[in-house]
Order: sequence, then structure tokens, then C-alpha cells
Amino acid sequence: MEKVALVTGSSSGIGYETVLALAKDGYQTFASMRDTSKAGELKKIIESENLPISILELDVDNDDSIVTAIKKIMLDKNRLDVLVNNAGYGQFGCTEDVTIDEFRKQFETNFFSVVKIIQEVSPIMRKQGSGAIVNISSVAGRMGFPGSPAYISSKFALEGLCECLRYELGMFGIRTTLIEPGVVKTNFFDSMKIPESKKDPKYKQITENILAGLKMMVEMGTSPAQVAEVVIKALHDKEMLPRYLVGTDAAMFMEAKRSKSDLEFEKYMSKELFPA
Ligand SMILES: NC(=O)c1ccc[n+]([C@@H]2O[C@H](COP(=O)([O-])OP(=O)(O)OC[C@H]3O[C@@H](n4cnc5c(N)ncnc54)[C@H](OP(=O)(O)O)[C@@H]3O)[C@@H](O)[C@H]2O)c1
Repeated sequence: MEKVALVTGSSSGIGYETVLALAKDGYQTFASMRDTSKAGELKKIIESENLPISILELDVDNDDSIVTAIKKIMLDKNRLDVLVNNAGYGQFGCTEDVTIDEFRKQFETNFFSVVKIIQEVSPIMRKQGSGAIVNISSVAGRMGFPGSPAYISSKFALEGLCECLRYELGMFGIRTTLIEPGVVKTNFFDSMKIPESKKDPKYKQITENILAGLKMMVEMGTSPAQVAEVVIKALHDKEMLPRYLVGTDAAMFMEAKRSKSDLEFEKYMSKELFPA
């Protein structure tokens, strides 16, 4: 039987690579993006490699766009086996430097959109008695640090949601998981929204330190294709795990978190983030 997959935010990075990996793994894959004029590169590969990929318009910030996209998939294929919630961006800046609207917008794209898509997709998967929902979270969804609380808390929310869904949707044979990469070499850092830090020089110093650290880490970052490989591995696992870490940086930070008390971990992170 034909298996059907949908990926959000497929115009670049992890979404783009996940679309290719799913298609190569045999899925009829819908590569969704809010601006389909960005599909040029993907279209060339689809043609040259004859891959089963369809480009689909989907702006995750727009509920109507979500409903329309899912309807199109159902009209065309009448099933949906895999949903990869990938679309997202990073709102940078310390809490006082980020406006409440910027916080809300971050949650709209990184969290509420996921709730809305799952509300549309889970009735289909419940009816089928099967399906898998893969949520691209981050190791930043497991630990807080200064400089990007809006992004971090949106990923914490996603982690909480997914832990609940493991029970709620698991009852119907729907598998859910979280993918938790460390730093991945994508457009993410160019698209990051960075507010001007005006409230206090200390906030400015912190954000500059973190940005400089991130720049260095990006050079050694995981490739988006490696993240896509982990998505495929999760789908193939007989028992899908609640979460999959990706990258040596993510593994190192999580190992430190697991092995230390909360206070020890804060001290460790402070030393990592603000070396003397
Ligand atoms: N890169 C990292 O270090 C890293 C680490 C951990 C987790 N992640 C997560 O990985 C996911 C993918 O990011 P990436 O690293 O691959 O960065 P990316 O190359 O910037 O890709 C982000 C994708 O999300 C899309 N997007 C943003 N807002 C959208 C909206 N309203 N509707 C539909 N699509 C939207 C972007 O579309 P446009 O091209 O239209 O902007 C783009 O396709 C994100 O959820 C991010 O939080 C990234």
C-alpha cells in the first residue's frame, strides 16, 4: 500500500532534507512550504531523480492554509501516514528585549501551529488506526539558558505537548516522537530574529556572547541530512522512542544535564556559555 507523508517548512534545511529522505524511503511525500516559489531546487531534484514528491502550499501561521493543505492531501491520496512538524524559526534576545508580540508570534509558529495541524491530522490517523507524528524540537527544548527564552520556551511547550500525545494518540496506534538536534548547519541562524538590546548592557553582553558561541558551533554543526536520517530511523524503529537526540553537542549537553544536580548544571552551563 502507498504510504503518504507531509513535511512542514520544506523550503530549506531539515525540512528539505527530510522530504528527500522520506521520498527515497518510499513515501509519497508532500513537501509543504509557505512560499512555493522557493521550491526551485527541490523541483530539479524531483525531476532528475524521479522522486515521489509533490509541492504543497502551507503557511503554518494560517489555520485556513493548514485545513486546505490537509484537505488537498486527502482528496489526492485519501490517507496520511507520517506528519513531520518541522517549520519554525528562532526569536533571539533576552526576555526584556523581546516584545510580548514577538513572544506570541514565536509560539504561534513553533507551537500553536503544531497543535492545529495535529488537530486536523489525528482524526485521519485515528480512522486509519495508524500513523506517526514526528516533531522537530531541539536540545534547547530540554534546557534553558539565557539569550533566547522565546525560542527555548516554545520548544519546551512542544516537548510537553508531545509527552501528552504519546499517551493520548498512542491509544489509537498513532506513534509520536521528538527529534532534538543540537546546532544544525541550516538557514536557521540567518533567519533568526535578533532584537536590538537596549534595556541593559548586561543583556547586550549576554546576547553577543551567545551569538558568537553559536556562530562557532554552526561551523561544526550537524548536517540537516543527518537529522533527516534520524527521522527515518525513528519511523523504522519497532518501538518509536519518545525522543531522539541528534549531534555530539546535543549529546554532550544532555549527558551533563543527566549527570548533574540542577544547581551543578547551571554552574556548568554558565562556565560553557561565559568562559572567563
Ligand atoms: N538549525 C538548527 O540549529 C536547529 C536546531 C534544533 C532545532 N531546529 C529546528 O529545526 C526546524 C527547521 O529549521 P532549520 O534549521 O531547517 O532552519 P531553516 O532552514 O531556516 O528552515 C526553517 C523552515 O521553516 C519554514 N517556516 C518558518 N515559518 C513558517 C511558516 N509560518 N509556515 C511555513 N513554514 C515556515 C521556513 O520557510 P521560509 O523559507 O518560508 O522561511 C523554512 O522552510 C525548526 O523547527 C527549528 O527550530 C533547528
